[in-house]
Amino acid sequence: MIQDESIFSDRLVQDFNQRFGYPPEFMVSAPGRVNLIGEHTDYNDGYVFPVAIDKYLRIAASKRSDKEVHLYALDMDEECVFNLESIRDSKTPPWSNYLKGVAHFLQEEVLQGSEHTLNGITAVITGNVPIGAGLSSSAALEVASTLAFLGGCGLEIPYSSINTNNEIELLHSSPLELASICQRAENEFAGVNCGIMDPTISLLGKADHALFLDCRSLDYNHIPLNLTDILIVICNTNVKRELAASEYNKRRSECENGVKMIQQWMPSITSLRDVTVEDFKKYEEKLPEITQKRCRYVVEENNRVLKAVSALTANDLDTFGILMNASHAGLRYAYEVSCDELDLLTEIAQNIEGVIGARMTGAGFGGCTVNLVYQDAVEEFQNKVSNEYPKHTGIEPDTYICNAGDGARIKWLSNQ
Ligand code: GLA
Repeated sequence: MIQDESIFSDRLVQDFNQRFGYPPEFMVSAPGRVNLIGEHTDYNDGYVFPVAIDKYLRIAASKRSDKEVHLYALDMDEECVFNLESIRDSKTPPWSNYLKGVAHFLQEEVLQGSEHTLNGITAVITGNVPIGAGLSSSAALEVASTLAFLGGCGLEIPYSSINTNNEIELLHSSPLELASICQRAENEFAGVNCGIMDPTISLLGKADHALFLDCRSLDYNHIPLNLTDILIVICNTNVKRELAASEYNKRRSECENGVKMIQQWMPSITSLRDVTVEDFKKYEEKLPEITQKRCRYVVEENNRVLKAVSALTANDLDTFGILMNASHAGLRYAYEVSCDELDLLTEIAQNIEGVIGARMTGAGFGGCTVNLVYQDAVEEFQNKVSNEYPKHTGIEPDTYICNAGDGARIKWLSNQ
């Protein structure tokens, strides 16, 4: 059952109604995410520790009797029509590729061989996950469209069954299978070789918990945050992540090359996940400089996630904060995916008493930092950030205080 109605907006129902002249049958919401620690580890089969945030991508939709998909992106005032029987990625509008990719893989993988086929849908899309800010607006769109297409063929996905049984019974398919088709949509229709973290947390987020996910086995645990007097504060550099896609794919192949080289001495490894910090020390000198830096970061970051999860479980937030700060240093100097603006925001934060830890979050090259801040230091934090950051950059930052929220949901409107 849906417990929090506020994540669905009445405004969206009205907009749908106005545009199409009839009400939507259902609404879907999928959250963005912020990753507390474990960056660029997911595509290395490693560990991540994200939370779903209370910012959502929302879709109001109705099924159609044909195979056409009619989409309207409210915030961009753009529309797109495509046919489920002839899906092709296209440059315009770029956001439509996420929906096309999801529809393609739902048809080819999840529904293949079942008695279900996708129907066309008519949909209005909106959201308040900042776009291109490293908070996974694209995964939220993929997850929301997955649920919208499934809703369009009458497949409700009860929220409770996702959490307790880890299965969507009608499909005999788990949320992780849905996360995987979202990932493939992004890989193959948007050209970013991203990992599994973002759609997984958007599907499996749980209020007041972070998700400890092993990106190899896909085993996961919801770890209580117990942050009574501590807030998760996100700061947006408002710097466009120009290099994000190309450099992201480059980092991924640098890691894959590193694995090939390390296999000379450790033939049984298949990813950097298999290399411990001690193993790495034995062989690092033999690697070319760039490969060495990239691999060292990943090996150490995996280790930091494990330590961070233990620290949080033991309520040792000081250690958690130290690990967050170390993660940022690794991303800045060894993995080289930070930028001046992210470094500045992180430095401002780390110098404020009452900030437990601060780091960049997401792919990097712009986007956001994540900060754990004692409640009584939040005002000073916001003042310092809004004074000092524009002074050096000429850019106004945005700050969001976030609650760890629940994962994606679908709500049927016809029974109201
Ligand atoms: C992006 C990708 C994720 C992950 C992060 C970095 O958000 O979509 O899969 O790799 O970058 O941790």
